[in-house]
Amino acid sequence: MAPRPPAPAAPVVLSVGGSVLFTGTDDARYFGALADTLKRVGERVPLVVTTGGGRTAREYIRLGRDLGLTEVELDEVGIDVTRLHARLLAARIGPPCPSRPPETVAEAARELRQASPVVLGGTEPGHTTDAVAALIAVRVRASRLVNATDVDGVYEADPRSNPKARRLDAMSWDGFRALVEATAPTGAGQNFLFDRVGAAVLARAKLPLYIVHGRDLSNLEAALDGRPFRGSRIGG
Ligand code: UTP
Repeated sequence: MAPRPPAPAAPVVLSVGGSVLFTGTDDARYFGALADTLKRVGERVPLVVTTGGGRTAREYIRLGRDLGLTEVELDEVGIDVTRLHARLLAARIGPPCPSRPPETVAEAARELRQASPVVLGGTEPGHTTDAVAALIAVRVRASRLVNATDVDGVYEADPRSNPKARRLDAMSWDGFRALVEATAPTGAGQNFLFDRVGAAVLARAKLPLYIVHGRDLSNLEAALDGRPFRGSRIGG
């Protein structure tokens, strides 16, 4: 009997916060190095990446709110900014990464059959790109979702106001969701660590979430590969 071909690697999903992508410091170098990392990882496993809107989205949302736009219209403004970041990152990665960001979860899953990495921004009003990443992760049966943000994990208290606060390296989904519910604000342009819709979607599917600092690229690559990394593991 012919040997069975090795099983294809399970996809991996990454949500990169806008607060990591566009800080005002060294952004072009970071975008380039991130693109090189994602191209490399995307050759090893099927990879989907969502990009947040960060402070650019928040500035436009503030302007729109002063103009009297509805929360749904403000979400749509935010989505446009996340897609701008997706387009920049996709263009820097180059082929086979699709240059036009997919606009739905289904479209992203379809693109992943032909190309890796696939980069996209938001999809519809009412959640953030973390939730988009979570929906895609479940949809494509990903092995994990990595959230690259501007802190290196979940802390027992805010490390900026309490430097003695300890990082929680492992947490249950119940513990993490309670924390998200207790601290998450609502409204366009607002978020805490990870979107509550995304947390609910991942918890229901028992899909692990890793939280890492997005600017430490060798550590981010380790988390994407499933090697030991510095950060927090939720549910796995
Ligand atoms: P982000 O995903 O950037 O959310 O979307 P965020 O909470 O500001 O995260 P960081 O700071 O980048 O990490 C920006 C805004 O765009 C709208 C929401 O208003 C969100 O707050 N949005 C985004 C949607 O309505 N739907 C989406 O699918 C994505």
